[in-house]
Amino acid sequence: MQLGPHKNSLRQLAFLKPYLASYRRQIFLALLALALAAFMVLALGAGVRHLIDQGFMSQPDQSLLKGLLGLFVLIGLLALASFGRTYYVTWLGERVVGNLRQHLFDHVLKLEISFFEQIRAGELISRLTTDTSLIQILLGTSAGLAIRNLMMFVGGLVMMITISPWLTFLSLLVVPLVILIVRIFGRRVRRFSKLAQDRVADLGGYIDECFNNIRTVQAFTHEDHDRKVFRDNSRTAFAAAIKRTLARSLLASVVIVVVFLAIAGVLWLGATEVYQHRMTVGQLSAFIFYAVVVAGSAGSFSEILGDLHRAAGASDRLIELLSIQPAFRDKAVSRTLPSLSSGTVAIHGVSFFYPSHPDRSVLEQITLSVPPGEKLAMVGPSGAGKSTLFALLMRFYDPQSGAIHFDGIDIKDVSVKDLRHRIGLVAQEPALFSASIFDNILYGRPEATEKEVWQAADYVQLEDFLTTLPHGIHTKVGTKGVRLSGGQKQRVAIARAILRNPSLLLLDEATNALDAASEQAVQQGLSHLMSTRTTIVIAHRLATVLNADRIVVIEGGRVRAVGTHAELITQDELYRRLATLQFADALSLLGGKSTIASPL
Ligand SMILES: Nc1ncnc2c1ncn2[C@@H]1O[C@H](COP(=O)(O)OP(=O)(O)OP(=O)(O)O)[C@@H](O)[C@H]1O
Ligand SMILES: [Mg+2]
Repeated sequence: MQLGPHKNSLRQLAFLKPYLASYRRQIFLALLALALAAFMVLALGAGVRHLIDQGFMSQPDQSLLKGLLGLFVLIGLLALASFGRTYYVTWLGERVVGNLRQHLFDHVLKLEISFFEQIRAGELISRLTTDTSLIQILLGTSAGLAIRNLMMFVGGLVMMITISPWLTFLSLLVVPLVILIVRIFGRRVRRFSKLAQDRVADLGGYIDECFNNIRTVQAFTHEDHDRKVFRDNSRTAFAAAIKRTLARSLLASVVIVVVFLAIAGVLWLGATEVYQHRMTVGQLSAFIFYAVVVAGSAGSFSEILGDLHRAAGASDRLIELLSIQPAFRDKAVSRTLPSLSSGTVAIHGVSFFYPSHPDRSVLEQITLSVPPGEKLAMVGPSGAGKSTLFALLMRFYDPQSGAIHFDGIDIKDVSVKDLRHRIGLVAQEPALFSASIFDNILYGRPEATEKEVWQAADYVQLEDFLTTLPHGIHTKVGTKGVRLSGGQKQRVAIARAILRNPSLLLLDEATNALDAASEQAVQQGLSHLMSTRTTIVIAHRLATVLNADRIVVIEGGRVRAVGTHAELITQDELYRRLATLQFADALSLLGGKSTIASPL
């Protein structure tokens, strides 16, 4: 999924309204400071006029001193107003964007797995950081500038008219010309801005994937290729940025030339007026001052317009993100799970395909009942749909047909949170967080006590390993747990699931990275635990399968056979084949183990 701007209309910015609504007081204060600052600048013009006419043009006396004193007061007030303006406008920008970011994060966390499969993590990061920053620039800087400049523009114009309507009219003749220039260049500026922005966003996604898979990158010595892709991308971004800047600089200099030519013209015309005593020198000076103010504020609009368009583009992408609704919302919740969970699972005629591959059926007519307390093993070739069945039990996806009942209730009728509270999942590739082992286990149930965490660690025989670590259970595991071995990661992940104290435990090849001896130890630790809850374990190892009450054989998305080991070995050909391969493997491992374990 690519989130990209469809419309770059400034109307998109209206979506910020609700975020601003709760800060009326701050908006009022910001506006007040802005108005005061603009007013002061305008008053400065009047001061200049007064100073020249009363001070320089007549005898220097008391009035010059008074004029200067007045000017100082004005400047003091201007400083105060500028302070208020900067403070309140920035405050608003930071606050509103903080709330917006929080809202976006809350929203994205509500979305289901299939959304995250279709979008790159880097893309999402860029939405939540770069796009919100563009809005922050708008609210925290540009909006204040725009309002101040608008006030100065209007105020300056009014002052010009009061001094000389005729000169004002003549000066305004230049405006259509300036607008034309801005329009021509502005379009180019916007086009290249967008191009540069998109390239930088692409780079973000690329960096994210590359560094997340750095071991693969290095193992396949893919660095040169990655460097090249990166270089090409940044070159395109650079080229676009330069073209944008070129258009922008050209625009600025052309406008400056036009405006100052116009001001020179006005000065010349004004001088004639002064000669003919229709105007004082002070009036002309004030007029020029206001003309510069008006031209300056008009000029800054083109810059601000660029910021506005960029923020509008960002808003559009954020609106799009916010409008994605979770496919199954808890609105449909009509029942609650019984308070005493038995961990019963009943799957009725479930068929499923992944939303991204609607033409490929992954599960077909799966029907399976797991009574409370049972230990069910699931075996089957790779790609048979075993992990997918777990995903449906967790309600990461909804099946297109059929139903899954948990504790006797259709899982579509209960809240997702409630359901997941009762399930402990150890995924095929257990993911840890860059925190300590302790915190990673605590993740299973944040309100658990320290003693409970240690208990969970004991179940999976972690203590021997923990004593070898510098900080024991408080050792940090690194990003995604890179500092642990595969087997250690698996054991931490199992402890995390156990701590949850679930009534249904789902283990997806949770012990396949352990050596036979450790696996047996973990199995022993778990066996007591499993006797009190329902467990479904996807297994490639015979040892695990032999411990199970029943075994279900899945092939090509269908249930092929269900039974005990003894039954299946005589009745099911596929199982026999899998078991024979496993037996050979298991026997060799047992042989290996007996020599290692001989000192006992
Ligand atoms: N997120 C996904 N999107 C689309 N297709 C998927 C997704 N996950 C798995 N599949 C496809 O669904 C099928 C079943 O995958 P599944 O992971 O359930 O297999 P499995 O039985 O767990 O295999 P293994 O023993 O290798 O783990 C596979 O053909 C796989 O390509
Ligand atoms: Mg799997």
